[in-house]
Amino acid sequence: MSILNNLKEDLKTIIKNAGYEEENLALEPSNRRDLGEYQLNDSMQLAKKYHENPKIIAEKIVEELKKDKRFTNINIAGVGFINFSLSKEYKIDILNSLNADIYANINKKENKKIIIDYGGANVAKALHVGHLRSANIGEALKRLARELGYEVLGDAHLGDYGRPLGFVVLEIKKMYPDLPYFDENYDGNYDEISLPITNEDLEKIYPLASQKAKEDESYLEEGRDVTTKIQNHEKGYYDLWKKVVEISKADIKQVYDMLNTEFDLWLGESDAAAYMDELEEIFESKGLLEDSQGAKIVNVEEPEDKAPMPPLLFIKSNGTLSYETTDLATILQRKKEYNPDEIWYVVDNRQGLHFEQTFRATRKAEIVGEEVNLEHVGFGTMNGKDGKPFKTRDGGVMSLKGLIDLVKEETLKRINPETVSEDEKEEVATLVAIAALKYADFLPYRETDYIFEVEKFSDLEGKTGPYLLYSTIRMKSLLNKAKDLKMEKIKVLKGETENNIALSLLQLPEVLDKSLETKSLNDIAEYIYTLTALYNKFYSENKVLTEENQELQESWLVLTKIVYNVNLLLLNILGIKVPEKM
Ligand code: ARG
Repeated sequence: MSILNNLKEDLKTIIKNAGYEEENLALEPSNRRDLGEYQLNDSMQLAKKYHENPKIIAEKIVEELKKDKRFTNINIAGVGFINFSLSKEYKIDILNSLNADIYANINKKENKKIIIDYGGANVAKALHVGHLRSANIGEALKRLARELGYEVLGDAHLGDYGRPLGFVVLEIKKMYPDLPYFDENYDGNYDEISLPITNEDLEKIYPLASQKAKEDESYLEEGRDVTTKIQNHEKGYYDLWKKVVEISKADIKQVYDMLNTEFDLWLGESDAAAYMDELEEIFESKGLLEDSQGAKIVNVEEPEDKAPMPPLLFIKSNGTLSYETTDLATILQRKKEYNPDEIWYVVDNRQGLHFEQTFRATRKAEIVGEEVNLEHVGFGTMNGKDGKPFKTRDGGVMSLKGLIDLVKEETLKRINPETVSEDEKEEVATLVAIAALKYADFLPYRETDYIFEVEKFSDLEGKTGPYLLYSTIRMKSLLNKAKDLKMEKIKVLKGETENNIALSLLQLPEVLDKSLETKSLNDIAEYIYTLTALYNKFYSENKVLTEENQELQESWLVLTKIVYNVNLLLLNILGIKVPEKM
C-alpha cells in the first residue's frame, strides 16, 4: 500500500478514536498552505451521519490528532474544516522510504488479465496520425496497468484482411502478370520467388488500385474475386498475400519501434478467420441472424435507445465478411486463447458506433460473459495549427513518418552541438521529437481534440516533452558529478521548495490511480511537469555541489535522486525514452 494510503488508514483510526466511523476519507492537499498542508473535510459528512454539530466533531478529532507526533499546525477553520501539516521528521521519514523503494509509494492492484488492442495499422498502407494516438495512449496504458500490478497483453491487431489487400494483390497481378503466383501450374516453393516490390511500392499501389476500383466496375469485380481467393487460401493468391503482409509488417514494426511501442501479440484481423465458422454457428444457433437483401444482419437495438441503432452487418450481400464480424471473431479468439478479464480498444472516437454494435452483438450471442469488460477507449483528433486534421505542405494526408520528420526538423535545431556529436545528432533528435509528440498527445484528456503546434511542443521551455527530457538529463548529470559524495539519507528538509517537492511526491499514487481509472494520461502529464518545475526551482535556488553544510548537501542529493527516479518511472510509463544527452 502507498504511504498516502497508510496515512489515510491511520487518520481513519484517529477518527475512530474520537468516536466516529468514516469509510471514505475526505483528505485533500490544501491550496492554502499557510493554514496547513492538508485539509480534512470529514466533519460535515460525519455531522449528517451522527446528527451532531460539525465543529464539535472537528474538535474531538483535533484532540486525537494532537496526540500523534506526525501532525503539526493543527487548526479548525470555518464550520469545522480541519487543517494540519505533517511534521518535518515525518516527511523526512517518508522521503527516506521513497529513496529506499520508489514502489513503496504505489498502490498495487489485485490480479486481472487485460488485453489492449491499440495497433490497428493497415498492411500495405502508410500509418497515419490516428495510428499515432492509438500507439501512444495504448502503450502508456499498458505500461501503467502493468506497473500497478495487472497482467497486460498488447495486441497489434493489424488490418491485414479484407478487400484492400485483394486490390493490392490484383494490382500486382496487373503489373507483373508473369509472376509464378498467378501460374496455376507452378509447383515450386513460393518462398523462393523474389518479389520486385518494396514497402514504398506497396504504399503507392494501394491508392492506385482503390482509385481504379472506384472508376471501373469490372476492376472492382475482379478485386472482390481476388479477395475471396485469398480468404479461401487459394494457391498462389494466398501466398502472394502472405508475402505482401510480410514486407509491410517489417516496415510497420520499424515505425512502432521508433515510437517505443512494443506489442506482445502481433496478430491481425486475418488470425480471427479461423474462428469465423464457429462464430457464424453461434449466431445461427441463437437465431440472431436475419436475412436482409441477400446480406445477413444482427439487430442490436435496445428498448432504451434514444438514437437510432442500425443493425450490425454480419455477412455482406456479396458473401464477404464485415469489419464488425472480424472484431466479433477476434473476441471469440481472445476468449478461447487468452481468457481475459477485460479487453480495451484504444481507437479513434469516430469508431464509436462500430464498437457499440460489436459489443452489443457479443453480449447477445454470449461470446463472453457479463463479467468480461469490453471497453472502447476512444480518443479525439490531433489537429494542425488551422484546427483541421494534419496535412502535408502540399495539402495531402500526413503520414505518421512525415509528421515525425516534421518535428525532427525542429528538434534538430535545438540539439546542443557541444554535448552531442555529429553522428549522434540524428538519433537524439528523433528521441526528442518522439518525446515532443507523445507528451503533447498526453496533455489533454484523451477524448478532447487538440492542436499540435510543432514549434511550441518542440521547445525546451514550457510544458513540453523536450523540457522534461532536458531537466531529467540535468538531474542525472548532477548525480553523476556527485557520485563520490555522500548520498544515503535525507537528514534535513529546509526550504519551502523542498517541502513542496516532498508533498508533491506523496501525491504520486493518487495520480497513477486516477490515470488508470480515467484511462487517460493527462493527470500523469500534469504531475510530471509540476514535479519537474518544482525541482528546477529548487535547482536554481541552491548550489548543491558547492554546499558546505554536509548534511544539507547530502539531503539535497538524495532529494534529487528521488525526483530523478520518479521522473524515470513516469517517463517510462508514458513510453518516452530519455537520451544520454541532448
Ligand atoms: N485498422 C483499423 C483502422 O485503421 C483500426 C483497428 C482498430 N481495432 C479494432 N479491433 N477494430 O481504422
